[in-house]
Amino acid sequence: MYKQLLSALLLSSTLLHASHEAEIKQEAKDAILKLKSTLQTRLKANLQKGGVLQAAAFCSRKAQSITHEVNVSFAKETRVHRTSLHYRNSENSPKSDERIVLEQMQKDFDAGKKLPQLLVKQTNENTYKVYKPIFINKGVCLKCHGDITHRDASAYKTILKNYPQDKAINYKMGDLRGAFVVKIVQR
Ligand code: HEC
Repeated sequence: MYKQLLSALLLSSTLLHASHEAEIKQEAKDAILKLKSTLQTRLKANLQKGGVLQAAAFCSRKAQSITHEVNVSFAKETRVHRTSLHYRNSENSPKSDERIVLEQMQKDFDAGKKLPQLLVKQTNENTYKVYKPIFINKGVCLKCHGDITHRDASAYKTILKNYPQDKAINYKMGDLRGAFVVKIVQR
């Protein structure tokens, strides 16, 4: 009887835990989708209007304020941003806990392992960070993040002017570029 009760209790706590994790993942997914689609739509519109050069100027000027706008639109204390080991904007440089996760992701990627779509890390009692890897998955990424043979020379000139310390080049198609990170505080 006691054993049954214990296993029922254990089961219910794991179930609770699983649904809690699902809830966190769903919240993270929604936040990532919002930032990703906003950035993509605006990047595409600028590419169509004025080519890579205009798009480069646009990203340089607007990526941070778009990220901010998306974040203030959330009802809760949910915060989404992009980060990378080889960042262009130092505002996107990884915090020390994020660096550890990115380095592990890069190791796994280099070893040919499939990275999880979403990785949940608990950072303290009620705070979580959810990571989604970002890959160089379109040819156009290389115009601004590729090597010298793929980069758009004039667009890159604009980029370098805005980010003299740029580390976000020499990527190849399929490379791991960084991650979306969503910080979720549970009340
Ligand atoms: C027209 C040029 C351009 C194109 C095309 C482009 N990017 Fe970027 N990317 C930038 C600029 C400029 C920044 C810096 C934005 C900022 O200030 O936050 C950036 C930043 C990033 C960041 C944030 C981390 C960092 O380095 O600061 C990621 C991740 C990223 N780009 C991925 C991609 C991917 C994936 C693609 C293809 C789907 C892509 N980019 C296409 C110009 C570009």
